[in-house]
Amino acid sequence: MSMERETVIVLDFGGQYNQLIARRVRENNVYCEIYSYKTDLAQIKAKHPKGIILTGGPNSCYAPGAPSCDPEIFTWGVPILGICYGAQLMMRLLGGTVEHAQEREYGQTLVHVDNSCALFEGVQPDTICEMSHNDYITKMADGFAIAAHTDNCPLAAAQDAARKLYALQFHPEVLHTLEGKKMLHNFVYGICRCKGDWKMDDFVDTTVTALRKEIGDGKVLCALSGGVDSSVLAALLAKAVGKQLTCVFVDHGLLRKNEMEEVCKVFGPGNGNFDVNFICVDARERYFSKLAGVNEPERKRKIIGEEFIRVFEEQAKKIGKVDYLAQGTIYPDVVESGLGGESTVIKSHHNVGGLPDTVDFKELIEPLRTLFKDEVRQAGRELGLPEYIVNRQPFPGPGLAIRIIGEVTPEKVAIVQDADAIWREEIAKAGLDKKISQYYAALTNMRSVGVMGDERTYDYAVALRAVTTTDFMTAESYNVPWDVLGVVTSRIVNEVKHVNRVFYDCTGKPPATIEFE
Ligand code: XMP
Repeated sequence: MSMERETVIVLDFGGQYNQLIARRVRENNVYCEIYSYKTDLAQIKAKHPKGIILTGGPNSCYAPGAPSCDPEIFTWGVPILGICYGAQLMMRLLGGTVEHAQEREYGQTLVHVDNSCALFEGVQPDTICEMSHNDYITKMADGFAIAAHTDNCPLAAAQDAARKLYALQFHPEVLHTLEGKKMLHNFVYGICRCKGDWKMDDFVDTTVTALRKEIGDGKVLCALSGGVDSSVLAALLAKAVGKQLTCVFVDHGLLRKNEMEEVCKVFGPGNGNFDVNFICVDARERYFSKLAGVNEPERKRKIIGEEFIRVFEEQAKKIGKVDYLAQGTIYPDVVESGLGGESTVIKSHHNVGGLPDTVDFKELIEPLRTLFKDEVRQAGRELGLPEYIVNRQPFPGPGLAIRIIGEVTPEKVAIVQDADAIWREEIAKAGLDKKISQYYAALTNMRSVGVMGDERTYDYAVALRAVTTTDFMTAESYNVPWDVLGVVTSRIVNEVKHVNRVFYDCTGKPPATIEFE
């Protein structure tokens, strides 16, 4: 499958935008994978890439021990686009000079481009680009010519059209570079000569066929959380093998309002969408009794994780031996766990740890492991999942337990569910749902005096959170208009019992986290 598919490779030098570059390429219907700069050239060649993009990175390419790559990469004939560090490294390895600059060039900058360069075809001659560099290319390698400059910097882009080597000091992958998408489009189509064979309907069809072949008449088990990834996974497997699939959905009582019903509506028996074996386990009481008196967030996480394994194990025992366990691993998980690119951050909390060890199965299947989140959503749409599932907000495994400060009780869960539903409804009504990466309501453990009618109250404060982020590693609080906050506040204090104050969390990550635990 992958042998025939056009592939562009992103060679990762530790830049913060590595995943963004790959996503931008895929938005152009060209499949793209990320590899660490340490990857053997032979391994890269074996992928038959149509082009290679060298990413930015935090280092100076002339520093001792700085990340580098095999210079042969520039001579075996594949088109190369170097971005920032990638551009400087290419120049240096080919005989140019890179030096530290007196002044750092940073932020949105007016760039004058040469439209005869294939990378800039159709781009405005004066265009805004995002710069972020301390080092400059002071002497180009032989064969290169300047293709863009700024008022301060004679070399913002360079090309060696004969060898199809392109160097950009700025970042075409970020939206601050207004015509960056066009430049990347020009690279993959104009320069790499891709045709654009990466399409979601094809992905669904080929994956369904491949899953049928792999699974045969075997039995598959899937833990369904109701989140986007596991729902798309279940839908894909349902389409491939129908009743050979059993989905286990654990209602731990810490779900968002109506979530259990929404999942049952899609996957439950008699609902017609997907004809699979569906088990909904009502584990609310056991979770609440385990969580009684527990305040500490890490402890809550542990208890919920362990209890999940126990519940799942019991179900698996009833089902008996299965051949395959399906997991909703997606591409960012693969990259972040260090298997793909250079990123060293490991988000271990993202998957249910330990599960594969406790269930009796032959093999693990992870059909979404090449997809980015937006592609998973697209695949979900192709499979006929409703928008309320496909567009679900990220929701942590431990659920509302980590959006309630202090002890978790059914009463507190009900408060946060109701407040959260109002917040989500109003965000959508205001048309902000596509602009904000993640938003939810949390329950602070603080109670304070208020007045309602003529009566004194002593009730909880709800915290509203809304952040924007590209990678969930860092985030900024979203500037929600005051009138929207006003409407939400008055609805919450009027409609949700035991709430008499509403706060808005203005903190970014760092120093806070996205969740509120
Ligand atoms: P934090 O709070 O660490 O969250 O800034 C970053 C992103 O990860 C999500 N998150 C989780 N997702 N299991 C998950 O599947 C978890 O235990 C978990 N904890 C945090 C969080 O919602 C945010 O999108």
